[in-house]
Amino acid sequence: MASRQQMTNPLLVGTAIRAQLKDEIPQDLPLEKEFREKTDYTITDHVVELHKTLCKDPRTLELINGLVTHLHAFCREKQVNHDEWTEVVKFLTRAGKESTDFKNEFVLLSDCFGISALVDELNHPKPPGCTDSCEAGPFYTEDAPEVLSGVSLAKSGTTGEAMFFSGFIKNTIGQRIKGAKVDVWQADGDGVYDVQYPNRTEPNDRGKIIAEPDGTFCYRGILPTAYPIPNDGPAGDFLRLMGRHPHRAAHIHFALHAPGYDDLTTALYPSHSPFLGTDPVFATKKSLICQLVEEHNPAEWAKMGFKDGEVKNGRVWVWKYQFVLPTVQEVHQMKQPRRAVL
Ligand SMILES: [Fe+2]
Repeated sequence: MASRQQMTNPLLVGTAIRAQLKDEIPQDLPLEKEFREKTDYTITDHVVELHKTLCKDPRTLELINGLVTHLHAFCREKQVNHDEWTEVVKFLTRAGKESTDFKNEFVLLSDCFGISALVDELNHPKPPGCTDSCEAGPFYTEDAPEVLSGVSLAKSGTTGEAMFFSGFIKNTIGQRIKGAKVDVWQADGDGVYDVQYPNRTEPNDRGKIIAEPDGTFCYRGILPTAYPIPNDGPAGDFLRLMGRHPHRAAHIHFALHAPGYDDLTTALYPSHSPFLGTDPVFATKKSLICQLVEEHNPAEWAKMGFKDGEVKNGRVWVWKYQFVLPTVQEVHQMKQPRRAVL
């Protein structure tokens, strides 16, 4: 093993290393074993062993060594060649260069590879019958107003057809949940979120709804339409390479919070939307698809709170859904055995 003297000897190490060794001399290890492919001590074994010796955080060690092992196995299994690996590195470099505060290509790639959806599912196990979760996506904002149930979340003049959403929040034994707050955010009838309009002055098509004591809530709004995820960068190229498209089915995002219950972030999708089965980010689940009903009776529109002239095309889209939340305890119990397996 190298001594401190060897590590700082100008005859043995250059100026850059000597400059970096002011405070700490890194631990060196003797290279005792030859690591070679198709032997009982490969480069994978060597990297893993090195990390085991030097890395101090157990969880980091577990994650990184797992990743190294899987990546090395992938290269062996697919016999990855130099040109292919160079393409991978170029692609990731582009993803880094083209990422901005508003469009993170790595987040998009995580979504398009199904990893975001997988991590979400691993971390939100649910008892049978509970509403499935999915990722919040990039369009949530903190500035949505807190509002009472029954109001309109769409400003006058918002593009799209009228919609009336009503939700019922209950627990796994069918009891109504009191004290819930429901964050809602959605695109308009052009498939555009308020934050995507350059002239946005205030929140639109979003709100933090205080649910009624009986566990119900409702709001008037606009029927959302399908929209594409950003596809002018590496993530878009990846989708095209795989023969996939970037379009997400129409949906409304919800985040439900209630004392004693596991927070739920999810989205609901109208069954009439295209792209339900080919979601580029794999957030569309069958259980979250809803059948909407068209209401053509003006008297019913008035009961929902719509004023004369607010309803276009002679219909209001009526959207109903029952959210089922597990308690914190129920989720905790489900997570215990999964952690033990790791
Ligand atoms: Fe969305």
